[in-house]
Amino acid sequence: MQRQVATRSDCTKISQKIRTFAARPPLLATPHPIALPAPITTDIAAAAEVLRAGGLVAIPTETVYGLAGNALNEAAVAKIFAAKNRPSFDPLILHQSSAERIFAFTTAPSPAAAQLAAHCWPGPLTLVLNKQAVVPDLVSAGLETVAVRVPQHPVARQLLELLDFPLAAPSANPFGYVSPTTAQHVADQLGDRIDLILDGGPCQIGLESTIVGFPEGVPTVYRKGGLPVESLEQLLGHPLAINTHSSSHPTAPGMLSRHYSPGVPLDLWADLKQVDELPPDSAVIGFGMGGTHYRRDENRHLDFYDLSPTGSLEEAAQQLFSVLRQVAKQDYLRAAAVLVPERGLGRAINDRLRRAAVEE
Ligand code: TXA
Ligand code: MG
Repeated sequence: MQRQVATRSDCTKISQKIRTFAARPPLLATPHPIALPAPITTDIAAAAEVLRAGGLVAIPTETVYGLAGNALNEAAVAKIFAAKNRPSFDPLILHQSSAERIFAFTTAPSPAAAQLAAHCWPGPLTLVLNKQAVVPDLVSAGLETVAVRVPQHPVARQLLELLDFPLAAPSANPFGYVSPTTAQHVADQLGDRIDLILDGGPCQIGLESTIVGFPEGVPTVYRKGGLPVESLEQLLGHPLAINTHSSSHPTAPGMLSRHYSPGVPLDLWADLKQVDELPPDSAVIGFGMGGTHYRRDENRHLDFYDLSPTGSLEEAAQQLFSVLRQVAKQDYLRAAAVLVPERGLGRAINDRLRRAAVEE
């Protein structure tokens, strides 16, 4: 299948632009010196003001927190790449408050894309469509397509309604790390690199949006995420092509194999039978074990984290990134995770666990 790729010279040009913009003093005064920790606020109007001035605001969405800037302001977009340490070949998602407003930045959606948008927006679905020229090349990393999404979180929607431009927002984590699902997660990792953190509480879904592109008109899943593939298949009435692997040149889904590192070697298990093979001072991430979310086995010196003691995939999705962060914070020797059932949100959860398990 032919995939659209940015050429090396496109990427070099874009990298140069990022360096130029990031090195320049801010065009407009930022609300506080950038090295101070960003304030955490619930003031949506204040967030809108910072964004209008070209600043960066971490925003809540129902999937994960995003690191938002004015998508039409190249200097703001360059600051997003710099704050995240994100390679310039990895394009950003445009966010808007309605399908009508976001389709102004794409060519007319195909019937399948229009159907998905009508049923799934606002919600955890991102569509990759051909872009209009007004979308800066920095946002789309030189591709002719752009990823677009209408988030459901009420705070994100109210913020977008106050603005007369779309927001470019990748997940608000340094490149290669786990996406944040609380305002505090953002503060911990990017607090000194951004202007403001808008707190909308813990993210309800907890996994990034499902991404669907249309190479040669064929609806294709680029990233498994917060909207189960089965739901999309039911809507469209046929099985979907899946192409989520892009390790050498992640033009598109940017799904580098190793992308969710918990900072410790992670084994993947089908069940708990191998637990005795783990050395002391290791962690086990399980699912549906029936006890509490966390328990320490003092005899074996093992910590057990249960993504959902009752076996709910929704709860497991919500908990996954917090648990990976907790594991990363400790000094474990090893960690192991039991794969969850491969259906519904379980497919996206297992995808993230597999990426977390890839060693450098
Ligand atoms: O749930 C989400 O999607 C969150 C919230 C903040 O909206 N955003 C998010 O953004 O996860 P990010 O940048 O972490 O992941 C976006 C993915 C990247 O893997 C990128 O490669 C892919 O979308 N993407 C962006 N533009 C694309 C394009 N034109 N074609 C294919 N993939 C694209
Ligand atoms: Mg991300």
